[in-house]
Amino acid sequence: MTNKASSPIIIAIDGYSSSGKSSMAKRLAKTIGYRYIDSGAMYRAVTLYAMRHGMISNDGSVDVDKLTAALPDIHIDFAVENDTQYTMLNGENVEAEIRSMAVSNNVSPIAAIAQVRHALVAMQQSFGFEKGIVMDGRDIGTTVFPSAEMKIFVTASPQTRAQRRFLELTDKGHAITFEEVLANVVSRDHIDETRAESPLRRADDAIELDNSTMTIDEQNKWLLDRYHEITGA
Ligand code: CDP
Repeated sequence: MTNKASSPIIIAIDGYSSSGKSSMAKRLAKTIGYRYIDSGAMYRAVTLYAMRHGMISNDGSVDVDKLTAALPDIHIDFAVENDTQYTMLNGENVEAEIRSMAVSNNVSPIAAIAQVRHALVAMQQSFGFEKGIVMDGRDIGTTVFPSAEMKIFVTASPQTRAQRRFLELTDKGHAITFEEVLANVVSRDHIDETRAESPLRRADDAIELDNSTMTIDEQNKWLLDRYHEITGA
């Protein structure tokens, strides 16, 4: 996993829900001038589409056949405006809506569907065609880019992660309780780790980071140091 040349590389950042990987991935991409892709946002956008089209029933079960048939009609992209990235679903900015608890509560079952994963993994691989990319998710170092030059696996205790996500959501005005967020974090971890199709696991050659007791600045520095070490840049 070393790359001493200055040519662009692929950086895969995987880890548990709300472990802070998106913020650190975003920050690193900005610092080194790479493109950032939030693969979780893509699963969230497909989930929103399924919710809007009545493909998820009240008991949480998904009409897999209907969703599979609709996959060619689901176009996901990212737009950047004033330094902020927005997830676009069929041309509509859905950035705020995909972060809601309603989407969080449905996303892991949707992300466990093999056909959904195949479609999104292909899209994610096309984003990385020219390298120079930081992508975060659950299976980036294992399935999407198994030969990524830099792989990081981020973890922290469920309590710490739920607390971070709770603050983030309440800051944005979402009416939720800490208990709801913790239950969602624990349930998504379980579904993500136990699904048959590319489950969440640390790639053998990934560097592990437990950031439970790190500040944001400390974790950003830690990540940038790894990048310099690996690229020699
Ligand atoms: O809430 P958090 O930022 O931790 O999650 P996310 O990165 O937005 O991802 C939302 C959900 O999408 C995860 O809980 C996974 O079920 C799924 N996901 C996945 O299966 N594979 C990925 N590469 C990224 C996300």
